[in-house]
Amino acid sequence: MTPVPPGSTLDEQVRAAGRKLGDRNEAARLAALALEQPLAWIFAHGDEPLDPRQTHRFAEMVDRRAQGVPFAYIAGTREFFGREFSVSPAVLIPRPETEHLVAWSLDLPLPDDARVLDVGTGSGCIILSLAAERPGWQCVATDISKEALAVAAINRGRLRLPRVGFLLGNLLQPVDETGFDLVVSNPPYVAAGDPHLIRPTWPRATPISKTATYASNPKSPSPPGRTDWVTSRSWWNRRAASWSTEAGC
Ligand SMILES: C[S@@+](CC[C@H](N)C(=O)[O-])C[C@H]1O[C@@H](n2cnc3c(N)ncnc32)[C@H](O)[C@@H]1O
Repeated sequence: MTPVPPGSTLDEQVRAAGRKLGDRNEAARLAALALEQPLAWIFAHGDEPLDPRQTHRFAEMVDRRAQGVPFAYIAGTREFFGREFSVSPAVLIPRPETEHLVAWSLDLPLPDDARVLDVGTGSGCIILSLAAERPGWQCVATDISKEALAVAAINRGRLRLPRVGFLLGNLLQPVDETGFDLVVSNPPYVAAGDPHLIRPTWPRATPISKTATYASNPKSPSPPGRTDWVTSRSWWNRRAASWSTEAGC
C-alpha cells in the first residue's frame, strides 16, 4: 500500500486503502480483520491512530487483496449455510449458490438414517452442512486432493461432526457406490487453462457456479432403491473421465 504518514488515523488509512482497492467498504472490512475488531468498531474509532504493527498488518492485507487474492483467503474463513468454514487456496471458496444444493437435499424424502455421499468435497461445506442439519444421516465424502481433505478435516473438527468420513480418491472409487441414498456433488466446472484462472486475475475471478440443479426433479420422490443425485448442471455436460484434468477450484 502507498505509505501513509506515521501516526495516520484509522480513517485516513481506510480511505487510502479504499482508493487503492476502489472499494472503501472492502478496505474497512480488511481493517476489521487486521485489527480483529467488528466492522462497527472500525467506523466508530476512525479518529484513532494505528500503531506500526497494526499499520503493517493492514497494509499487507490490502496489498494481497490488490493483487487479487480473494477476501475469504485473506480472512481464512467463509460463511456457508449459517456456519463458518475454514478455507485456503487448496479449496474452492464455498459459494452462496451451492447453498441451494444443500437446501434441496434437505427437502428430499429420505430416511432418518440416510447414507449420503459428497463427491469432490473441497472444504466439506456441503456434506458437513448436511450432517449438521440431519444428525442421523451417515455422511461420507471423497476428494482427489489430500490438501483439500485436510481443510475439510479442520472444518469437521470446528463443527464437531466426527462421524463424517473423508476419503481420498477419484470420484466414487473410494466407496461402494451402490450404498447411498443420496449423492451430492459440486464438481469442477472451469476448464484448466481458462484465462480466468491465470494469476493475477484468477483470484478475483473465482468461478461462478452454474445454478446448482437437481439431476432429477426435486419434487418427485425417487423410486424405492434409487439413489438421488444432486449436482450442478454443468457437470452433466462433461464426461466424468475429464474431471481430474479440470481445474475449477
Ligand atoms: C468445484 S470444487 C467444489 C468443492 C466443494 N464441494 C464446494 O462446493 O465448495 C470441486 C472439488 O472436486 C475435487 N475433485 C476434482 N477432481 C476430482 C476427482 N476426480 N475425484 C474426486 N474429487 C475431485 C477438487 O479437488 C475440488 O475440491
